Amino acid sequence: MELKNERWSDEEFLAERKEVLSLWPTGKEVDLGEAADYLRNLPPKKNYALEVAQAEKEGRTLVQPRGGVALVEDQIALLLYLQDQGGADLLPITTDTYTRNLKFQESERGIEESRKAGRSMLNGCPIVNHGLKAVRQISESVRRPIIVLSGTAFPQITAEMGFAGGLTAFLGGGISYTAAYTKDLPFKQGIKNYQYVDRLTSFYQERGICLHREQPGFLTGTLIPPGIGIAVAVLEMLMAAGQGVRHYSMGLCQSLNLRQDVAALWALKEVGKDYLRRFGYGDVFFSIATHQWMQAFPADEPRAYAVIVLGGVIAALSGATQIITKSTHEAEGIPTKEANAEGVKATRMAIQLMRSNRFPESKPFVEEKKIIIQEARSILDKALEMGEGDPVLSSLRSLQAGVLDIPWAPNQHVAGKVIPVRDASGAIRYLEYAHLPFGPEILEYNREKIRERERRDRQKVDYQAAIFDITEVSKMLED
Ligand code: 5AD
Repeated sequence: MELKNERWSDEEFLAERKEVLSLWPTGKEVDLGEAADYLRNLPPKKNYALEVAQAEKEGRTLVQPRGGVALVEDQIALLLYLQDQGGADLLPITTDTYTRNLKFQESERGIEESRKAGRSMLNGCPIVNHGLKAVRQISESVRRPIIVLSGTAFPQITAEMGFAGGLTAFLGGGISYTAAYTKDLPFKQGIKNYQYVDRLTSFYQERGICLHREQPGFLTGTLIPPGIGIAVAVLEMLMAAGQGVRHYSMGLCQSLNLRQDVAALWALKEVGKDYLRRFGYGDVFFSIATHQWMQAFPADEPRAYAVIVLGGVIAALSGATQIITKSTHEAEGIPTKEANAEGVKATRMAIQLMRSNRFPESKPFVEEKKIIIQEARSILDKALEMGEGDPVLSSLRSLQAGVLDIPWAPNQHVAGKVIPVRDASGAIRYLEYAHLPFGPEILEYNREKIRERERRDRQKVDYQAAIFDITEVSKMLED
């Protein structure tokens, strides 16, 4: 089957499905008809899509942590703690690395070792191994909706288990996760794997069940220039819409530059709306998510809290519908449930303190937003031209040509020639724009911004500066 942005027929989907479910014995437990009946009877408050849509309508920001541990009872305890002590609006199940790489035998061993050790020996919750009943038990233990967070380019069986288990949202995209989580996988395969998840989502949708799909804007979790983040998000949304997805959110990672972060989130909304309409998907619902700092965190609590709180401020000032939080344990590894809940609470407090204030539309703000939109459109339009208007072909061809490029990606099929760097105000610019299809206005704007930093620092902004910028936040105030 040639890969295009065409909705898979039921036959194509169901044929693929047999293989997907055969990856692990618990695959047999998932029956779409039975699962549809189960999902239809969930209370609306447990439906991620409905909760997000309601919050978007009311201009509220929902707070969502990450979190996954090996054992079912511990996962339930974690989610209850995040819900009741942290006040999380939306709950997570992060899967372990073995699950993400389809190494279910290893996950099984991790479960046994965790039982023996009396603590989690996996870096997430292996929901495929636990099986349908256990996933439903987790979902039924909490009041809030749950999203599956599985940083993987192989999401199919995990999405099957998650949805059927009452987890009403699934994070991930064929460009972002192939770029960020695999080294050799061709984009064609990663995109096809996510077409499956999107088609599974629409299969339920056609049976009256609204499930939420979410795009992870953090990509490689480095300084992602917003123009690139937006281009990827929009392509992934168009590919999801192509499979019949009706409910979506797109995200961007924070750079901790207040003006640029808010401008980028507003630009994302504008560009997203425009391209959906252009492709005839104008009735697809989408909303905006912001991810707290995804790069190296400061090691100590006070500095980490400053980063977390600024993240909440950015969410509030932009009016984002979701914020995905971090904890003060980020520099060390997986947070305890206490630290995780505290990250949620600090974020909520920051949002509440901002009340209904939005970022003022000053001249520099408007200019920033305009430039970001131009950058995103330049990439998208060139990509779409290369792909003859088909978002799948456009993604594949533009990635191959480096017209769409992702900084510091481990995947060998990414051009990897773009180098981001901060300007004097801390906004992300391009030290190397390589093959990004930018016109003279964008290039001159970038150059001037970098020159400003050079004048301030009396030093050339070069590759060394770009490397410095990667760890700067984690080292700030260290002498
Ligand atoms: N529990 C909590 N947070 C996690 N993350 C990854 N795995 C877990 C887990 N099991 C978070 C970390 C990481 C991000 C991608 O997700 O903050 O940086």
